[in-house]
Amino acid sequence: MKITFYGHASLGIEVNGTHILVDPYISANDKAAHIDIDSLKADFILLTHAHGDHILDVEAIATRTNAVIVSNAEIAGYYGAKGFQSHPMNHGGSWNFDFGKLKYVNAIHSSSFPDGSYGGNPGGFVIEGEHKNIYIAGDTALTMDMKLIPMRTKLDLAILPIGDNFTMDVEDAIIASDFVDCDKILGYHYDTFGYIEIDHEDAIRKFFNKGKDLMLLEIGSSIEL
Ligand code: NI
Ligand code: MN
Repeated sequence: MKITFYGHASLGIEVNGTHILVDPYISANDKAAHIDIDSLKADFILLTHAHGDHILDVEAIATRTNAVIVSNAEIAGYYGAKGFQSHPMNHGGSWNFDFGKLKYVNAIHSSSFPDGSYGGNPGGFVIEGEHKNIYIAGDTALTMDMKLIPMRTKLDLAILPIGDNFTMDVEDAIIASDFVDCDKILGYHYDTFGYIEIDHEDAIRKFFNKGKDLMLLEIGSSIEL
């Protein structure tokens, strides 16, 4: 499994020969100006919630790639009504896709579209694929529901928001990594705007002091699991 960070909460995941994009918000992110959305491959686009900083580039990429948009029922329905391929899910449900098993799990946040349309309730994803399992938390507060995840899935990586203000901060993300029983963490949802700027060295040290590995990737770079 290969995971590429495209800035903010945007991820590319290659698993079992399938290309997945998560929450594409790239074309308006000055820090991701070197990423060309027209070059990104996508068989599936996973959306955690409907906020503009998670869906901005969905329509451009899905129009070009014909990717299947996977999200909660309301977000899937919104794009389905516009003629895009979509797959609706809801909290607690799983589906076996080409790339592996995907579960939509709870997040504590909100989820309206920029145009005011109802975006259902926000979530995160657990992907079980190619003998590696990852958790993509989405925008969320720390929540006890995270403790349910390791009861079903042994995680190899937890992708957690750490930027504070709209989501967990570093300290809450450390507790979240305990809740999901995973010591390997990819941080996201930081630095994009003034509200969520963080001190990288301080964040990495705080995780390190708890015996955990926080990775902060350069935009466009990847890790292999
Ligand atoms: Ni949000
Ligand atoms: Mn966000």
